[in-house]
Amino acid sequence: MAEVHPLSRNHDRDTFDCGSEALNLFLRATARQHQDRGISRTFVLVEPESAAPNRVIGFFTLSACEGIASDLPPSLARRLPRHLPAVLLGRLAIDRQFQRRGYGGALLVEAIRRVAAIAAQIGIAGLFVDAKDDQAAAFYRKFGFVPLPSNAHRLFLPLSTLLSVASTPTKTY
Ligand SMILES: CC(C)(COP(=O)(O)OP(=O)(O)OC[C@H]1O[C@@H](n2cnc3c(N)ncnc32)[C@H](O)[C@@H]1OP(=O)(O)O)[C@@H](O)C(=O)NCCC(=O)NCCS
Repeated sequence: MAEVHPLSRNHDRDTFDCGSEALNLFLRATARQHQDRGISRTFVLVEPESAAPNRVIGFFTLSACEGIASDLPPSLARRLPRHLPAVLLGRLAIDRQFQRRGYGGALLVEAIRRVAAIAAQIGIAGLFVDAKDDQAAAFYRKFGFVPLPSNAHRLFLPLSTLLSVASTPTKTY
């Protein structure tokens, strides 16, 4: 069973290929720098030590962010202040060899669970994500993310949906 760990220098980032050079490059060249500076946290899905040590199957990054209530669909913006504390899922990707086998969904649920744990400690209105294209946006919509009216590639998962996704039974990878 694969495991999720905070990115460290022990993980093999060079062989990772999700099909998007920008995302591959982020993992290879930027993720650890951002981690060291407190800009984002990156978590990697890896095979258990006994299989292929340190091989990265997938990754995601989380950062704090601010949302603007008037950017949300009107039904979600009601009764919220103009400036919203939130979390940003900046990136999520699965190596091509492992795509369409349930890892992306499982990793997204893992990210949502971590955000639910953060929400128990500090106030957040929900989780934003930037999808890189229409297909990625369709992937996020499956999990309850709602596209912003002004930008269908930026989506929002309100806190109530986030908490209910987080409480679903754990799937094995
Ligand atoms: C998008 C991505 C993360 C999905 O990961 P994955 O492991 O292939 O997805 P899963 O197998 O877990 O699929 C989960 C669900 O999303 C659906 N799905 C997966 N990829 C999809 C896509 N491109 N478009 C629409 N739905 C998609 C699956 O059909 C599945 O739905 P189901 O449970 O109803 O069958 C992966 O394809 C990837 O890394 N792509 C390149 C980078 C990228 O686009 N990142 C996204 C945001 S920047």
